[in-house]
Amino acid sequence: MNRPASPSQSFAAAPRRFALIPAAGVGARMGAGIPKQYMTVAGKPMLRHALDTFAAHARIARTFVVVSAGDGWIDELLTPELARRATVLRVGGDTRQESVLNGLAAMRAGASIGDDDWVLVHDAARPGLNAELIDRLLDALEGDAVGGLLALPVVDTLKRAGGDARSLETVPRAGLWAAQTPQMFRYALLRRALDEASARGRIGAITDDASAIEMLGLQPRLVEGSPRNLKVTLAQDAALAEFFLKGQ
Ligand code: C5P
Repeated sequence: MNRPASPSQSFAAAPRRFALIPAAGVGARMGAGIPKQYMTVAGKPMLRHALDTFAAHARIARTFVVVSAGDGWIDELLTPELARRATVLRVGGDTRQESVLNGLAAMRAGASIGDDDWVLVHDAARPGLNAELIDRLLDALEGDAVGGLLALPVVDTLKRAGGDARSLETVPRAGLWAAQTPQMFRYALLRRALDEASARGRIGAITDDASAIEMLGLQPRLVEGSPRNLKVTLAQDAALAEFFLKGQ
């Protein structure tokens, strides 16, 4: 039975949700002259799509974006309205995970973030994220003990290639999902997971946040994402991202 709260009872504040966008990569696979997060897709730089989506979302308290110390593009991209909802952290590392870890440390220095507050880590190179997908993730993970991520069940038949691009074997796809972002974990848990991966020299081996959580023996929840939330890695991916963004 629910009892009315007595005035002396104290409740922990509801956890808040922060977005953290690692955007310190150089995007070598795109073959473009500028880092891929600054390439224009559907009328604006990819990073701007993600920033606008988070900044406009009422359930996201603030967005932090990690760029490299020498980044010469971010100031131009941040409008005065965006600057009120987003903070730039010039603490990018050599790998995505180092950029995330540095970002987690720096975001706490400037804002009061609780251990149980949620952090949604999102790749700058996924411009197709929208409010509906953020809501789906937030709703699915409300009260979850571990956290989780957007992901898509694998539908293709998977082949393992040998050195000469010949198929060695077919990998059973049952139970396989392709990870997307945002990946959403409690601040303290995510920081501990990445710290431990780093201390064990395994930070370079992991390509997403959920794998650091898995190394602690925990099982992140898989929440169905969408093809529109693809990661732009190769030049042809930009055209597909544009198709989804223009069709919305
Ligand atoms: O290169 P990849 O597509 O895997 O990068 C995923 C995300 O991680 C991108 O948003 C990229 O800018 C970011 N990243 C980073 N620091 C690095 C490498 C990548 O913030 N050193």
